[in-house]
Amino acid sequence: QQYLERPAIKQRLLVVANRLPVSAVRRGEDSWSLEISAGGLVSALLGLKEFEARWIGWAGVNVPDEVGQKSLTKALAEKRCIPVFLDEEIVHQYYNGYCNNILWPLFHYLGLPQEDRLATTRSFQSQFAAYKKANQIFADVVYQHYEEGDIVWCHDYHLMFLPKWLKEYNSKMKVGWFLHTPFPSSEIHRTLPSRSELLRAVLAADLVGFHTYDYARHFVSACTRILGIEGTPEGVEDQGRLTRVAAFPIGIDSERFIRAIEAPQVQEHIKELKERFAGRKVMLGVDRLDMIKGIPQKILAFEKFLEENPYWHDKVVLLQIAVPTRTDVPEYQKLTSQVHEIVGRINGRFGTLTAVPIHHLDRSLDFHALCALYAVTDVALVTSLRDGMNLVSYEFVACQDSRKGVLILSEFAGAAQSLGAGAILVNPWNVTEVASAIGQALSMPAEEREKRHQHNFEHVTTHTAQQWAEFFVSELNDTIIEAQQRIRK
Ligand code: G6P
Repeated sequence: QQYLERPAIKQRLLVVANRLPVSAVRRGEDSWSLEISAGGLVSALLGLKEFEARWIGWAGVNVPDEVGQKSLTKALAEKRCIPVFLDEEIVHQYYNGYCNNILWPLFHYLGLPQEDRLATTRSFQSQFAAYKKANQIFADVVYQHYEEGDIVWCHDYHLMFLPKWLKEYNSKMKVGWFLHTPFPSSEIHRTLPSRSELLRAVLAADLVGFHTYDYARHFVSACTRILGIEGTPEGVEDQGRLTRVAAFPIGIDSERFIRAIEAPQVQEHIKELKERFAGRKVMLGVDRLDMIKGIPQKILAFEKFLEENPYWHDKVVLLQIAVPTRTDVPEYQKLTSQVHEIVGRINGRFGTLTAVPIHHLDRSLDFHALCALYAVTDVALVTSLRDGMNLVSYEFVACQDSRKGVLILSEFAGAAQSLGAGAILVNPWNVTEVASAIGQALSMPAEEREKRHQHNFEHVTTHTAQQWAEFFVSELNDTIIEAQQRIRK
């Protein structure tokens, strides 16, 4: 019956996220080179066959001139992308400030910025104003491109005001909002000065989604405790209007990784890496260089492992790929120096003339090189202090079907709820525990590795990004149909 109520033609889906899935680099006054980023969201939406998806987002560049804006808009149209232009001051206050210096650390339990409290308090209001303004700019672009019947799917902590602005434009718009980070305990959320306004803005959506049941529960209890409104088994109800709240754990396009491993250039990389690290076990970390990823904690645990296990000194190597991110935010700059200092110290301490224990790279790898690295890894280390899901753990598992390596996974990553039975779960703050997990992983018998890997591989290949997106969008359609039926009654 639900199927019959859906339109026969392809339904349009407007996906709105702070960042477009393409990054633009200006080559001349009106020429651009565009590079598609193949993240989880992109591959999930490519798999959505019954929808015609368009992206709306910031292209990550400042384009102050009209010629540039027009030519970039034209170039992006071919990729089904619509740019939102933000000037430098807004980017500074909204993206570097409110999003990445306030919401991001808070949602990951790192609290509000501690240093220079007075300056933070002073700049808070202007950053919050810029956040609302930026959300309004996004809303204007959505509205310019909106056609009746479109589904508008808003993403992440950058755009918490978007559901509100969109519904104010048109209360009939079908609006979903999905958070890619954790939603913290209400005790954390309530420290945020703009706590109520943000919750109310999100509640304007028809459907609100999170990666895990816990995040959804925290959101509902924040609404109950802070706004005093009622939580129901379906979501949050305020003055007779229900906002549905549910968990939709994301996945990856596992087939893409499995296929890539067979590609000749990946096999070539694998051969080179095996020769390069012959006789040593390979441990791998792949993270954005972000304080939530627990990179210093991971490296300190590795140091402790080396300290306590001289046998392994020349038999193991840790490859840490740390992709620079949000480099204009001071906290990120400090983290980079901190990580460099620890890596330098450990390599100085345990290195020899011919080998160092840690290879630390401040850069990203291309897709094929990354797949090869995943494939030759014996132990992957994910030590996030908090993480919405952590898809690196999924990508590692997808690339491991021949080696059956071990995943050490933080219990504070959303992925711990799905890969917990196959991984060794650790508290990343407990350096001793992580060091002993490293020892356990490196010496794990083949039979146990196989069993753990099978569990994870089964999950990763059956809970894909495409299914995640289909599930969210069909739930949004159903929510709206049910709401209409309730009104008719
Ligand atoms: C996280 C966020 C995304 C964001 C990504 C990269 O995964 O949930 O919304 O796009 O980090 O961060 P950046 O600030 O470079 O967009």
